[in-house]
Amino acid sequence: MAFELKNVVPWGRTLEEYTKIFKLTDSDLDNRIISFGDGPASFNSEMTKLDKTVVSLDPIYQFTKAKLKQRIDETKETVMEQMRTNQEKFVWKNIKNVDELEQIRMGAMSNFINDFELGKEQQRYVYHELPNSTKYNTQEFDLGLSSHFLLLYSQLGLDFHIQSITEMLRISKEIRIFPILNLNAVRSEVLEGVISHFESDFDVKIESSDYEFQKGGNEMLIIKRKSIK
Ligand SMILES: C[S@@+](CC[C@H](N)C(=O)[O-])C[C@H]1O[C@@H](n2cnc3c(N)ncnc32)[C@H](O)[C@@H]1O
Repeated sequence: MAFELKNVVPWGRTLEEYTKIFKLTDSDLDNRIISFGDGPASFNSEMTKLDKTVVSLDPIYQFTKAKLKQRIDETKETVMEQMRTNQEKFVWKNIKNVDELEQIRMGAMSNFINDFELGKEQQRYVYHELPNSTKYNTQEFDLGLSSHFLLLYSQLGLDFHIQSITEMLRISKEIRIFPILNLNAVRSEVLEGVISHFESDFDVKIESSDYEFQKGGNEMLIIKRKSIK
């Protein structure tokens, strides 16, 4: 099925959020990072300002800046309305209340929009749809990330996840995926299948995160190449 912008509800997080989500250390931040399903997050633009290296991949990068901005503007009110109605489903710890959430999300997406055309030219925002293979070389990146896409969208199925994660692991030495819950805030149905597929050839572990917004969504999945003993 063709990827259509009208089905996307843009929602982007910040560098501070990614740092807490994935427990990124100073040395992680100095590594070559690739971030899948990065959408309108400001992680890439904020990292670039700090002279760090991030490549972001997402199907929405096929659209123009004007179209993306229009989609952000037209969905904003509906999403914020839903957040107000469903406040009790979330943990107001990292983000204090709905007004702060709106300010953080809109700030992140505005940073992204302002950086998008330059970043596309510099090959920092690259149009790519998982589970397709990428143009990058084997182990070209130290760290591959997926914030709020893999595992969360469990309806995409186990095969989709295995194929996507296989490609992530081909080009990255280590990958981190957050959260490990699905959209109903229960453990992702594909988690066990993913773990059992990769655990014989890779080190696979679930680790705590410093971030929680979905209730109980405070863990990430880490998969890395086994170290040679
Ligand atoms: C909830 S957003 C998360 C954005 C960002 N990672 C963050 O945490 O702020 C999910 C993203 O997944 C992207 N996406 C949807 N289908 C995808 C696919 N097949 N491959 C990669 N990304 C996809 C969407 O375009 C969207 O930007």
